[in-house]
Amino acid sequence: MTSLKIIIDGHEIETSAEGGSNTVLQAAKNAGIYIPTLCHHPSLEAYGSCRLCTVQIVKNGRKKLVTACNYPLEDGLVVNTCTQEIVEIRRMIMELLLARCPKEKRLQEMAGEYGIIKPRFLPQDKKCILCGLCYRVCEELVGVAAINAQNRGVSRDVDTPYGELSQDCIACGACALVCPTNSILDRKNIYPLTYIDIKEMEEEFLCGANDDDLGVNLEMLAAKSSVEGQDGGMVTSILQRGIETGLLDGAIVAQKDERLGAKAALVDEAESILQAKGTKYVRISIIAPLLEALEMGKKRVAVVGTPCQMRTVRKLQRQGYFPEKFPDTEIFLIGLFCFESFDYESLKSRVIELFGIDLDRSEKMQIARGKFIVTAEGKEYSCRVRELGDAVREGCSFCGDLVSRLADISIGSIGSEEGYSTVIVRSERGEKLLNAAQFDRKEISREEIVKLAAIKKKNADKNFAGIVAGLPQRLEAKENVSAKSSTEWRNSGILS
Ligand code: FES
Repeated sequence: MTSLKIIIDGHEIETSAEGGSNTVLQAAKNAGIYIPTLCHHPSLEAYGSCRLCTVQIVKNGRKKLVTACNYPLEDGLVVNTCTQEIVEIRRMIMELLLARCPKEKRLQEMAGEYGIIKPRFLPQDKKCILCGLCYRVCEELVGVAAINAQNRGVSRDVDTPYGELSQDCIACGACALVCPTNSILDRKNIYPLTYIDIKEMEEEFLCGANDDDLGVNLEMLAAKSSVEGQDGGMVTSILQRGIETGLLDGAIVAQKDERLGAKAALVDEAESILQAKGTKYVRISIIAPLLEALEMGKKRVAVVGTPCQMRTVRKLQRQGYFPEKFPDTEIFLIGLFCFESFDYESLKSRVIELFGIDLDRSEKMQIARGKFIVTAEGKEYSCRVRELGDAVREGCSFCGDLVSRLADISIGSIGSEEGYSTVIVRSERGEKLLNAAQFDRKEISREEIVKLAAIKKKNADKNFAGIVAGLPQRLEAKENVSAKSSTEWRNSGILS
């Protein structure tokens, strides 16, 4: 490790440019010297947009202003963090930001430290300070990139492509976690959820006993229908009977697609439901086909999807989106158990590598007891799920919900003997759907589901804890919450 000598505010500091300490900001932090930041997060690439961390460096006798968060360390560097010129620059930045977002408490506090109570500029009424943390965490850590910076100058804002309802957001809440002003929670076209939102949604949409491990429910059972299908064919059977009995006008289901592996589409005839049977394990967008179905005049629509898809629809329901645009509609959420989903193209390549078969020509894909099983030309091929490596979608590691806790009815294979589905009924709507279907019932193995649900939650919490640990210390200190447990932090109400 090469050691470097630098001088910060007159103090000689011996440091190294390795192990994550390779910027002026980090070296100052290690030496206990405070430099204010807004757009910096240690888990993300340096960005340098707010310029609040501006410092003066002296190199070869020449003075220069740089942003400390992305300026690399060099031997012999002289850094001044608090000259009169720098204080004036930070005052101007704070004034401009406060004029943009005059009601933001965090900005008011930071501006107050520079003696600014009321900015000289015309006040706007924004909440977003354009630090970029939300879209950077979404792209760099979660791997989804549902939002980004749009437009320039005074029109600059954070938004989805074309301001449309997001087809990609998985409602993981990572953007809400890093947003210093909570402005991200006001966005109507993405679905960031906090633990508190989830609790409130459980109260609003679901009924039954509270179950910390598996979510609110009225009943849990193992069921097998007469449909020849995956794990008891319960999803197929419920949809078929729902359409036959007039409970449903149609359902949004994943169908095989030559080009994309799978795509979501409306099915409104009982016989056609059979063609969509079988889980696809590929993340697809359900928002566009759902809106199309409602625009076509379908009033009672079921949506079959993964836990993240259940969250996105619930968020829209909570915002009152559906009653406003499509009065008298009823949406039934059938959530699948999901440990992780795949990127189809990567999965296809991996399957060729492992088994030498083309996934496009496969008849069935299945995940059971940690195994990925694919059937092609009547022959079964299998491997451990972990052998699929990079084919797993990145965002899945930020989802702690195995059992679709926000669905009306959740269905999966875990916890039931072979040939049966585990069914968790979570609302009266879910109960209505199940009662219309015909099936044999058995007991489930609750422990098996609880064990896997806990592993999924622990994995997600571990990833969130990494983000929380990098949040500005002042925010954590202010709210008196520990950075050790992300669940505790997210439960604290700071994001409510
Ligand atoms: Fe360095 Fe924003 S923290 S530019």
